[in-house]
Amino acid sequence: MFKFILPVLLLIASCLDSAASQTRRFPDDFRWGVGSSSYQIEGGWNADGKGESIWDFLTHNYPEKIADKLNGDISADSYHQWKRDVQMVKELHAGTYRFSLSWTRIMPGGYKNNVSTAGIEYYSNLIDELLRYNITPMVTIYHWDMPQRLQELGGWTNPEIIPVFKDYARLVLEMFGDRVKTWTTINEPLHVCECGYGLDYMAPSYNYPGIPSYLCGHNVLKAHAEVVHMYRELFQSQQGGRIGITMDTSWMEPKDVTSTEDREASERALQFYLGWFAHPIFSKEGNYPKVMIERIRNLSKEQGFGDRSRLPEFTAEEIQRIRGTADFFGINSYTTKLVYSNGHNNTGKFPVPSFNHDMGAVETQKGVDWPSSGSSWLKVYPRGMYNLLMWIHREYNPPRILVTENGVSDRGGLEDYARVDYYNLYLSAVLDAIEDGVNVKGYMAWSLMDSYEWKVGFSEKFGLYHVDFNSPNRTRTPKVSALVMAQIYKTNTIDWSYRPKLNEEQLVALAQLSTENQQPKTSGASGAVSWSLTGLLLLALLR
Ligand code: BGC
Repeated sequence: MFKFILPVLLLIASCLDSAASQTRRFPDDFRWGVGSSSYQIEGGWNADGKGESIWDFLTHNYPEKIADKLNGDISADSYHQWKRDVQMVKELHAGTYRFSLSWTRIMPGGYKNNVSTAGIEYYSNLIDELLRYNITPMVTIYHWDMPQRLQELGGWTNPEIIPVFKDYARLVLEMFGDRVKTWTTINEPLHVCECGYGLDYMAPSYNYPGIPSYLCGHNVLKAHAEVVHMYRELFQSQQGGRIGITMDTSWMEPKDVTSTEDREASERALQFYLGWFAHPIFSKEGNYPKVMIERIRNLSKEQGFGDRSRLPEFTAEEIQRIRGTADFFGINSYTTKLVYSNGHNNTGKFPVPSFNHDMGAVETQKGVDWPSSGSSWLKVYPRGMYNLLMWIHREYNPPRILVTENGVSDRGGLEDYARVDYYNLYLSAVLDAIEDGVNVKGYMAWSLMDSYEWKVGFSEKFGLYHVDFNSPNRTRTPKVSALVMAQIYKTNTIDWSYRPKLNEEQLVALAQLSTENQQPKTSGASGAVSWSLTGLLLLALLR
């Protein structure tokens, strides 16, 4: 008899074991959320007196700079569809909704002389609706939509922006701070400064390498610090919230890990991309990373700029004023780049001067066999997320890290199993880091719904919800990934075996999709991106 029982017990034990290994649990107090940003979803670009932002200006005046020549004038129309947005956050079981405020919806000209009641009301209603469902609003004060009138004064390159940004921030803290307990001053200063001023990648599209992006960074850091000091002095004790900043970088993997040069290039790249903003705020000594200060000073001298480095200097007092101005470390990351040194004399690849030339490192994704996505820059390498979180932990040891954005694009469709795989893998990598001692306290998936993806228009989709951009009310339908994220958020658990089929609502939407033209009017790309789950599992195991 025992002869039979033993193998059965062993079989059951092995089944239980494999079921357990398909699930992984997050800490009980882990904070789950989902994100969006004003220009990307709201539309209503001039509704109720809203002023013009740099994205309105760019897309209206230079449509040829946008992949599908479209703009965010209506986008997902969240200006009118916000109640549905809140329902979606609820459906996802997300405890937090991270969204941003449009400066020109609140102050049409950027200055406090003209405040729009309609703008204040819009966000106030959204916040109340979230709270009604027990969802915590996490508000980004600036997510890239600078008032055009302020841009005409130089935008972030003009120090005048510091008090003006502070006025805007003060108003929103006064208006919403009674109900909003998590604030982010600025989303991705690297993108704001280098991609907007150094390169022609984001509005205001300066394409002026090597100088204005450093001026921008200097003012962004000071403006951020002023707002945090103001919050701490005037609001924090009575409102009881937290304030921080969200930075971004890809993980910079040495192209050849056995090469000292490549490892140094990777470290340099992290210091330039992330340290540029993180070091002044989160390091013990403050100020820009040493490697940036020295390289830019030396190169500026060689290039004939004399003793004034292109990277502005902080005074000792400013260094102290900026250091420590964050209650949490917000990080956005999507992918990994391979990095190698730009040769001995650092020539050839980049304009001189430029940020990349100053960094002296070259990035590539050529030759990797990482799964691709709907965006050329985004390849799937979950181990990079783990490495990045470990790097942040070693470098700054912040007590609270929030992954404020992570997600993947495709070119459309509801059966987004590739996105499901991405989330399972990246969340596993986050959990690995937590288990190795990193203080990651929350995770916000990007994005709640398909939206305007900046210079690629509507051609790349990051949403958990599909948006029918051709329907008058911009119908939203959950993708398969929305069902999976809802399950993860609800149970605090990643379950590799949970791969739901489309539900009834989705099937109806899918039938409609196949009879209507759902692709952006001018985009030729189509087809969901997919890759093998086994391949991805292998990647995850490569620790
Ligand atoms: C930005 C988002 C953007 C996402 C995907 C982040 O850099 O904050 O606005 O949609 O990346 O490209």
